[in-house]
Amino acid sequence: MKEVRIGKSTLKGSRLAFGCWRIAGTWEARKVNAKARESGLKAILAAYETGYTLFDLADIYCEGISEELFGLALKQSKSLKKSALIATKCGIRIPEAGETYRYDLSADYIIQSCENSLQRLGVDCLDIYQLHRPDWLMDPNEVAKAFAKLKKTGKVKHFGVSNFKPSQVSLLQSALKDSLVVNQIEISLLQLASFEDGTLDQCQQHKITPMAWSPLAGGYLGNGKSNVLPSQEKYKPIKIRRRLDSLAREFSTSRSAIALAWLLKHPSGIIPIIGTTKPSRIRELAEADQIDLSHEQWYTLLTSALKEDLP
Ligand SMILES: NC(=O)c1ccc[n+]([C@@H]2O[C@H](COP(=O)([O-])OP(=O)(O)OC[C@H]3O[C@@H](n4cnc5c(N)ncnc54)[C@H](OP(=O)(O)O)[C@@H]3O)[C@@H](O)[C@H]2O)c1
Repeated sequence: MKEVRIGKSTLKGSRLAFGCWRIAGTWEARKVNAKARESGLKAILAAYETGYTLFDLADIYCEGISEELFGLALKQSKSLKKSALIATKCGIRIPEAGETYRYDLSADYIIQSCENSLQRLGVDCLDIYQLHRPDWLMDPNEVAKAFAKLKKTGKVKHFGVSNFKPSQVSLLQSALKDSLVVNQIEISLLQLASFEDGTLDQCQQHKITPMAWSPLAGGYLGNGKSNVLPSQEKYKPIKIRRRLDSLAREFSTSRSAIALAWLLKHPSGIIPIIGTTKPSRIRELAEADQIDLSHEQWYTLLTSALKEDLP
């Protein structure tokens, strides 16, 4: 798979990233059994063998189990450990009994969360540490303090954000010494907001790599409804799927690979984070890296996704 530079950093990662949100097969740590652990490990190793070197995680994925499984994979494969770029996240608090589900980007919480992730992953340093969601009470100077400490102690190489609006990126960046390297947002043919709300423009202008989460709309653009988020439940992909299928025949590939190739075409350098846990699909989706859609083909898909004709 091709490699690309991440943001303004010197890091290079695979053109498609592998997302570890679903690898434990459940969101709840207490439900994870040995079989689920084994398939999670298989998925990580299949991704690496296929050429994915950028791995996306978060402390909350299956309440820490995704990070633990990734740590196990690193122990099993020295070459994975050598080549993997680890991107994980913090900032969403898993509530203890009686607590409110909330976001927390206070300096202490960022630093403590990072220590916990390093321990679960069994590594000394994270390549990219992302703030999972904007905290409504975010003080950029406090975040900057935490970032400076984590950088100085060698625990994090680069920082990024996720689900941040352009104004929130600018606010935070104004307090930081180093450039943010990624903004991770939901982007797919069924979620076009970032093309129009300035998010991708900002990424392109400031060389922040956009990473697309749910690039297949949680499964809707693949084989239909999967384990989707509540916000994705109303997605209606019928018309888009017909056009994806027609292009898939033209390129002798799958519908899902075309949906990812559509993201890869954008000049901001979107990195789709794939979320399948099936090794055969992990391999099939890597074909997207070989597909270069024409301007015309790209617009055919866009217009099938828009509710109204272009003016
Ligand atoms: N920053 C954030 O707020 C945020 C939020 C959500 C996700 N993420 C990141 O983004 C990653 C990807 O998200 P996602 O899992 O929603 O991505 P996705 O690729 O849009 O959806 C993957 C889901 O679609 C299913 N699927 C159905 N048909 C498929 C096909 N033909 N090909 C591939 N998958 C198919 C998969 O099931 P099978 O496993 O059965 O193939 C899987 O459940 C996550 O792992 C996580 O790292 C970040």
